[in-house]
Amino acid sequence: MRLVLLGPPGAGKGTQARMLQKRLSVPQVASGDLLRAAVRTRSALGVEAKRYMDKGALVPDELVLKLIEERLNQPDAASGFILDGFPRTVEQAETLTAMLKGRGSRQLDKVIAIIVPDDEIVKRISGRRTCKNCGAMYHLIYDPPRNHNLCNSCNGELYQRDDDAEDTVRMRLEVYAATMRPLFEYYGRAGLLSQIDGIGRPEEIQQRIVSALGDAGAAAKAGAPDKAKD
Ligand code: AP5
Repeated sequence: MRLVLLGPPGAGKGTQARMLQKRLSVPQVASGDLLRAAVRTRSALGVEAKRYMDKGALVPDELVLKLIEERLNQPDAASGFILDGFPRTVEQAETLTAMLKGRGSRQLDKVIAIIVPDDEIVKRISGRRTCKNCGAMYHLIYDPPRNHNLCNSCNGELYQRDDDAEDTVRMRLEVYAATMRPLFEYYGRAGLLSQIDGIGRPEEIQQRIVSALGDAGAAAKAGAPDKAKD
């Protein structure tokens, strides 16, 4: 299964990708997580990327594409992946198509856009907390940790992302609004795009995604071999 999840900041792409990777037996590949890991190690790429992320702007393509290409070349992504946060522009989408073609691998099976209105996005982002240690995600109201500020799984400390500050979120929403339409059109023309309602419990959203995946999802779950499709 080669799946892309689109949607505004805080729509639940990461939450759904994490749930889906177990169901579909393919890894989540989140451009934001890859960038944040580069920022943490203070690599040259991370230092450069942070300048854009702190403002809520898109990181230049050459930096993001380098990370994505490296990640997709890892063995666990050979039979599929769930891309979360990438592509974000038509240029990135075209590069992904060329990248898959260049590797002789199958093209995308599906692109799913999770639709969530701005007022709900603000609630979701302001309450999000992430474990510093294992990356598990919580929400102060919708999915609170059992112990204040501590991860249920590993007892790690929970933190709020730097780019979840109100001004930065506003900028991220503006960037999304400016870039989503061409991307939706690009994948719409390719016959790959389904839009789903992102309001409801995460399990309900998951069911909508599985329904949208249709046969492709059923085949992936049954462990059916990849069939070349261009
Ligand atoms: P990135 O990390 O990709 O952030 P994003 O797209 O803004 O999305 P988020 O991670 O904020 O939200 P999400 O949709 O994953 O929601 P989540 O599941 O966490 O990008 C960050 C930055 O990196 C960008 O601004 C840019 O600078 C750079 N970048 C990344 N990719 C790039 C690219 N391709 N090109 C250029 N630059 C790039 O859920 C949010 C909260 O809601 C959580 O607390 C969760 O528990 C809760 N929640 C989830 N689902 C539900 C539900 N159904 N009901 C109630 N609460 C829910």
